[in-house]
Amino acid sequence: MSIQALEGRTALVTGAARGIGAAIARRLHADGANVVVSDVLTTEGEALVGSLGTRALFVHHDVGDEAAWQQAIAAAVQRFGALHVLVNNAGIYEPGAVGETTVEAFERMVRVNQTGTFLGMKCALEPLRAAGGGSIVNVSSIAGVMGFPGACAYVGTKWAVRGMTKTAAVEFAPHHIRVNSVHPGFIDTPMLAANPAEANAAGVEATPLKRIGQPDDIAAAVAYLAGDGASFVTGTELLVDGGYVL
Ligand SMILES: NC(=O)c1ccc[n+]([C@@H]2O[C@H](COP(=O)([O-])OP(=O)(O)OC[C@H]3O[C@@H](n4cnc5c(N)ncnc54)[C@H](O)[C@@H]3O)[C@@H](O)[C@H]2O)c1
Repeated sequence: MSIQALEGRTALVTGAARGIGAAIARRLHADGANVVVSDVLTTEGEALVGSLGTRALFVHHDVGDEAAWQQAIAAAVQRFGALHVLVNNAGIYEPGAVGETTVEAFERMVRVNQTGTFLGMKCALEPLRAAGGGSIVNVSSIAGVMGFPGACAYVGTKWAVRGMTKTAAVEFAPHHIRVNSVHPGFIDTPMLAANPAEANAAGVEATPLKRIGQPDDIAAAVAYLAGDGASFVTGTELLVDGGYVL
Protein backbone atom coordinates (compact mmCIF):
# COMPACT_ATOMS: atom_id res chain seq x y z
CA MET A 1 0.00 0.00 0.00
CA SER A 2 1.41 3.40 -0.94
CA ILE A 3 1.84 6.05 1.73
CA GLN A 4 -0.78 8.77 1.38
CA ALA A 5 0.26 12.41 1.01
CA LEU A 6 -1.06 13.56 4.39
CA GLU A 7 -0.75 10.38 6.40
CA GLY A 8 0.08 11.11 10.04
CA ARG A 9 -0.89 14.79 9.73
CA THR A 10 -3.81 16.45 11.48
CA ALA A 11 -5.84 19.17 9.76
CA LEU A 12 -8.46 21.49 11.21
CA VAL A 13 -10.92 22.86 8.65
CA THR A 14 -13.30 25.64 9.66
CA GLY A 15 -16.77 25.99 8.16
CA ALA A 16 -16.47 22.33 7.19
CA ALA A 17 -20.05 21.19 7.76
CA ARG A 18 -21.07 21.90 4.17
CA GLY A 19 -20.02 23.47 0.88
CA ILE A 20 -16.36 24.03 0.10
CA GLY A 21 -15.25 23.24 3.66
CA ALA A 22 -16.90 19.81 3.60
CA ALA A 23 -15.17 19.02 0.29
CA ILE A 24 -11.83 20.10 1.77
CA ALA A 25 -12.37 17.93 4.86
CA ARG A 26 -13.27 14.91 2.70
CA ARG A 27 -10.26 15.43 0.41
CA LEU A 28 -7.71 15.87 3.22
CA HIS A 29 -9.18 12.80 4.94
CA ALA A 30 -8.93 10.81 1.71
CA ASP A 31 -5.29 11.91 1.46
CA GLY A 32 -4.66 10.28 4.83
CA ALA A 33 -5.01 13.17 7.31
CA ASN A 34 -6.79 13.13 10.63
CA VAL A 35 -9.47 15.77 10.14
CA VAL A 36 -11.14 18.10 12.61
CA VAL A 37 -14.42 19.36 11.14
CA SER A 38 -15.17 22.72 12.75
CA ASP A 39 -18.45 24.58 12.28
CA VAL A 40 -21.42 26.16 14.03
CA LEU A 41 -23.73 23.69 12.20
CA THR A 42 -23.67 20.72 14.57
CA THR A 43 -26.05 18.32 12.77
CA GLU A 44 -24.34 18.67 9.38
CA GLY A 45 -20.84 18.59 10.91
CA GLU A 46 -21.53 15.46 12.93
CA ALA A 47 -23.08 13.78 9.88
CA LEU A 48 -19.93 14.47 7.84
CA VAL A 49 -17.70 13.10 10.60
CA GLY A 50 -19.94 10.02 10.82
CA SER A 51 -19.56 9.44 7.07
CA LEU A 52 -15.77 9.75 7.30
CA GLY A 53 -15.61 7.17 10.06
CA THR A 54 -12.16 6.94 11.56
CA ARG A 55 -9.66 9.82 11.89
CA ALA A 56 -12.37 12.50 12.13
CA LEU A 57 -13.69 14.71 14.92
CA PHE A 58 -16.42 17.37 14.98
CA VAL A 59 -15.99 20.48 17.10
CA HIS A 60 -18.68 23.13 17.51
CA HIS A 61 -16.67 26.26 16.92
CA ASP A 62 -17.54 29.89 16.21
CA VAL A 63 -14.46 31.31 14.46
CA GLY A 64 -15.16 34.84 15.75
CA ASP A 65 -14.64 33.71 19.35
CA GLU A 66 -11.05 33.45 20.62
CA ALA A 67 -11.93 31.15 23.54
CA ALA A 68 -13.71 28.81 21.11
CA TRP A 69 -10.54 28.70 19.00
CA GLN A 70 -8.46 27.66 22.03
CA GLN A 71 -10.97 24.90 22.79
CA ALA A 72 -11.13 23.66 19.18
CA ILE A 73 -7.35 23.46 18.83
CA ALA A 74 -6.97 21.83 22.25
CA ALA A 75 -9.55 19.22 21.23
CA ALA A 76 -7.63 18.53 18.01
CA VAL A 77 -4.30 18.13 19.81
CA GLN A 78 -5.83 16.03 22.58
CA ARG A 79 -7.48 13.64 20.11
CA PHE A 80 -4.76 13.36 17.47
CA GLY A 81 -1.56 14.44 19.27
CA ALA A 82 -0.60 17.51 17.19
CA LEU A 83 -1.83 20.03 14.61
CA HIS A 84 -0.11 20.30 11.22
CA VAL A 85 -2.62 21.97 8.88
CA LEU A 86 -5.16 24.76 9.42
CA VAL A 87 -7.68 25.70 6.74
CA ASN A 88 -9.47 28.97 7.49
CA ASN A 89 -12.49 28.40 5.26
CA ALA A 90 -15.51 29.60 7.30
CA GLY A 91 -17.16 32.61 5.75
CA ILE A 92 -20.40 34.50 5.34
CA TYR A 93 -21.61 36.63 2.47
CA GLU A 94 -24.32 39.30 2.49
CA PRO A 95 -24.56 41.46 -0.63
CA GLY A 96 -24.70 45.22 -0.23
CA ALA A 97 -23.45 48.33 -2.00
CA VAL A 98 -21.47 50.90 0.00
CA GLY A 99 -24.46 53.19 0.41
CA GLU A 100 -26.77 50.39 1.50
CA THR A 101 -24.60 48.37 3.89
CA THR A 102 -25.36 48.80 7.58
CA VAL A 103 -22.56 48.91 10.13
CA GLU A 104 -24.10 45.78 11.68
CA ALA A 105 -23.89 43.81 8.43
CA PHE A 106 -20.37 45.11 7.77
CA GLU A 107 -19.22 44.01 11.22
CA ARG A 108 -20.90 40.60 10.92
CA MET A 109 -18.79 39.83 7.84
CA VAL A 110 -15.61 41.25 9.39
CA ARG A 111 -16.11 39.11 12.50
CA VAL A 112 -16.34 35.79 10.65
CA ASN A 113 -14.25 36.30 7.51
CA GLN A 114 -11.49 38.58 8.79
CA THR A 115 -11.32 38.26 12.59
CA GLY A 116 -11.96 34.52 12.25
CA THR A 117 -8.98 34.09 9.94
CA PHE A 118 -6.77 36.27 12.14
CA LEU A 119 -7.70 34.31 15.27
CA GLY A 120 -7.09 31.01 13.50
CA MET A 121 -3.57 32.00 12.52
CA LYS A 122 -2.89 33.46 15.97
CA CYS A 123 -4.16 30.43 17.90
CA ALA A 124 -2.55 27.84 15.60
CA LEU A 125 0.92 29.41 15.70
CA GLU A 126 2.17 27.68 18.85
CA PRO A 127 0.71 24.23 18.08
CA LEU A 128 2.12 24.35 14.53
CA ARG A 129 5.50 25.40 15.89
CA ALA A 130 5.34 22.59 18.42
CA ALA A 131 4.66 20.15 15.56
CA GLY A 132 7.87 21.30 13.85
CA GLY A 133 6.04 23.32 11.19
CA GLY A 134 2.98 23.06 9.01
CA SER A 135 0.69 24.74 6.52
CA ILE A 136 -2.09 27.32 6.83
CA VAL A 137 -4.46 27.81 3.90
CA ASN A 138 -6.78 30.82 4.04
CA VAL A 139 -9.83 30.78 1.77
CA SER A 140 -10.23 34.24 0.25
CA SER A 141 -12.07 34.79 -3.06
CA ILE A 142 -11.85 36.42 -6.45
CA ALA A 143 -13.40 39.19 -4.35
CA GLY A 144 -10.00 39.38 -2.62
CA VAL A 145 -8.18 40.49 -5.76
CA MET A 146 -10.70 42.80 -7.48
CA GLY A 147 -13.74 44.92 -6.70
CA PHE A 148 -17.33 43.68 -6.89
CA PRO A 149 -20.00 46.38 -6.99
CA GLY A 150 -22.73 45.42 -4.53
CA ALA A 151 -20.49 43.42 -2.19
CA CYS A 152 -18.62 46.12 -0.29
CA ALA A 153 -18.10 44.50 3.12
CA TYR A 154 -17.44 41.01 1.76
CA VAL A 155 -14.82 42.34 -0.68
CA GLY A 156 -13.13 44.23 2.16
CA THR A 157 -12.84 41.11 4.29
CA LYS A 158 -11.49 39.00 1.44
CA TRP A 159 -8.80 41.56 0.57
CA ALA A 160 -7.93 41.55 4.29
CA VAL A 161 -7.50 37.77 4.22
CA ARG A 162 -5.12 38.11 1.28
CA GLY A 163 -3.06 40.80 3.05
CA MET A 164 -2.93 38.96 6.38
CA THR A 165 -1.84 35.80 4.54
CA LYS A 166 1.22 37.52 3.06
CA THR A 167 2.12 39.09 6.41
CA ALA A 168 1.83 35.81 8.32
CA ALA A 169 3.78 34.02 5.57
CA VAL A 170 6.81 36.19 6.35
CA GLU A 171 6.32 36.12 10.13
CA PHE A 172 5.83 32.34 10.32
CA ALA A 173 8.48 31.27 7.79
CA PRO A 174 11.25 30.91 10.43
CA HIS A 175 9.02 28.33 12.13
CA HIS A 176 8.60 26.31 8.90
CA ILE A 177 4.94 27.26 8.72
CA ARG A 178 3.76 28.12 5.21
CA VAL A 179 0.77 30.43 4.76
CA ASN A 180 -1.09 30.75 1.45
CA SER A 181 -4.46 31.93 0.19
CA VAL A 182 -6.87 30.27 -2.23
CA HIS A 183 -9.21 32.43 -4.31
CA PRO A 184 -12.30 30.59 -5.54
CA GLY A 185 -14.41 31.93 -8.39
CA PHE A 186 -18.12 31.09 -8.63
CA ILE A 187 -18.52 27.76 -6.79
CA ASP A 188 -21.69 25.71 -6.51
CA THR A 189 -22.53 25.96 -2.77
CA PRO A 190 -25.37 27.30 -0.60
CA MET A 191 -23.50 30.64 -0.32
CA LEU A 192 -24.46 31.63 -3.87
CA ALA A 193 -28.16 31.60 -2.90
CA ALA A 194 -27.57 35.12 -1.52
CA ASN A 195 -27.21 36.38 -5.12
CA PRO A 196 -30.00 36.75 -7.66
CA ALA A 197 -29.92 33.78 -10.07
CA GLU A 198 -29.14 36.15 -12.98
CA ALA A 199 -26.02 37.45 -11.19
CA ASN A 200 -24.68 33.92 -10.73
CA ALA A 201 -25.50 33.05 -14.35
CA ALA A 202 -23.64 36.18 -15.47
CA GLY A 203 -20.68 35.17 -13.31
CA VAL A 204 -20.49 31.76 -14.96
CA GLU A 205 -20.86 33.37 -18.39
CA ALA A 206 -17.90 35.65 -17.60
CA THR A 207 -15.80 32.62 -16.63
CA PRO A 208 -13.58 31.62 -19.57
CA LEU A 209 -13.90 27.89 -18.76
CA LYS A 210 -17.70 28.36 -19.00
CA ARG A 211 -18.78 26.34 -16.02
CA ILE A 212 -19.50 26.84 -12.36
CA GLY A 213 -16.75 25.57 -10.07
CA GLN A 214 -17.32 22.60 -7.79
CA PRO A 215 -16.23 22.42 -4.13
CA ASP A 216 -13.83 19.60 -5.11
CA ASP A 217 -12.00 22.04 -7.42
CA ILE A 218 -11.12 24.12 -4.35
CA ALA A 219 -10.36 21.06 -2.23
CA ALA A 220 -7.73 19.95 -4.76
CA ALA A 221 -5.96 23.32 -4.50
CA VAL A 222 -6.06 23.23 -0.71
CA ALA A 223 -4.71 19.66 -0.67
CA TYR A 224 -1.78 20.80 -2.82
CA LEU A 225 -0.96 23.76 -0.57
CA ALA A 226 -1.36 21.63 2.58
CA GLY A 227 1.07 18.96 1.43
CA ASP A 228 4.79 18.60 0.86
CA GLY A 229 4.44 19.18 -2.89
CA ALA A 230 4.10 22.86 -1.97
CA SER A 231 7.06 22.87 0.44
CA PHE A 232 8.64 25.92 -1.30
CA VAL A 233 5.35 27.80 -1.68
CA THR A 234 4.42 30.45 0.85
CA GLY A 235 2.60 33.77 0.65
CA THR A 236 1.13 32.93 -2.72
CA GLU A 237 -2.43 33.56 -3.90
CA LEU A 238 -3.84 30.66 -5.87
CA LEU A 239 -6.79 31.59 -8.08
CA VAL A 240 -9.14 28.68 -8.70
CA ASP A 241 -11.69 30.52 -10.78
CA GLY A 242 -11.88 29.07 -14.29
CA GLY A 243 -9.97 32.10 -15.52
CA TYR A 244 -12.45 34.73 -14.21
CA VAL A 245 -9.69 37.11 -13.07
CA LEU A 246 -7.81 37.59 -16.30
N1 LIG B 1 -19.26 29.69 -3.09
C1 LIG B 1 -18.53 30.58 -3.74
O1 LIG B 1 -18.81 30.92 -4.90
C2 LIG B 1 -17.31 31.18 -3.08
C3 LIG B 1 -16.49 32.00 -3.87
C4 LIG B 1 -15.35 32.57 -3.31
C5 LIG B 1 -15.03 32.32 -1.99
N2 LIG B 1 -15.85 31.53 -1.23
C6 LIG B 1 -15.46 31.31 0.17
O2 LIG B 1 -15.37 29.93 0.43
C7 LIG B 1 -15.61 29.70 1.83
C8 LIG B 1 -16.66 28.61 1.97
O3 LIG B 1 -17.89 29.10 1.45
P1 LIG B 1 -19.03 28.16 0.84
O4 LIG B 1 -19.30 28.63 -0.53
O5 LIG B 1 -18.73 26.74 1.10
O6 LIG B 1 -20.27 28.67 1.74
P2 LIG B 1 -21.29 27.91 2.70
O7 LIG B 1 -22.21 28.96 3.19
O8 LIG B 1 -21.84 26.72 2.00
O9 LIG B 1 -20.36 27.37 3.87
C9 LIG B 1 -19.81 28.24 4.83
C10 LIG B 1 -19.66 27.46 6.12
O10 LIG B 1 -19.11 28.36 7.10
C11 LIG B 1 -19.81 28.15 8.30
N3 LIG B 1 -19.75 29.32 9.19
C12 LIG B 1 -20.40 30.50 9.04
N4 LIG B 1 -20.17 31.30 10.08
C13 LIG B 1 -19.34 30.61 10.91
C14 LIG B 1 -18.72 30.90 12.15
N5 LIG B 1 -18.94 32.08 12.79
N6 LIG B 1 -17.92 29.98 12.71
C15 LIG B 1 -17.71 28.78 12.09
N7 LIG B 1 -18.27 28.44 10.93
C16 LIG B 1 -19.07 29.36 10.35
C17 LIG B 1 -21.23 27.86 7.86
O11 LIG B 1 -21.99 27.24 8.90
C18 LIG B 1 -21.00 26.96 6.66
O12 LIG B 1 -20.91 25.60 7.02
C19 LIG B 1 -16.04 31.05 2.41
O13 LIG B 1 -14.92 31.66 3.03
C20 LIG B 1 -16.44 31.84 1.17
O14 LIG B 1 -16.33 33.22 1.39
C21 LIG B 1 -16.98 30.96 -1.76
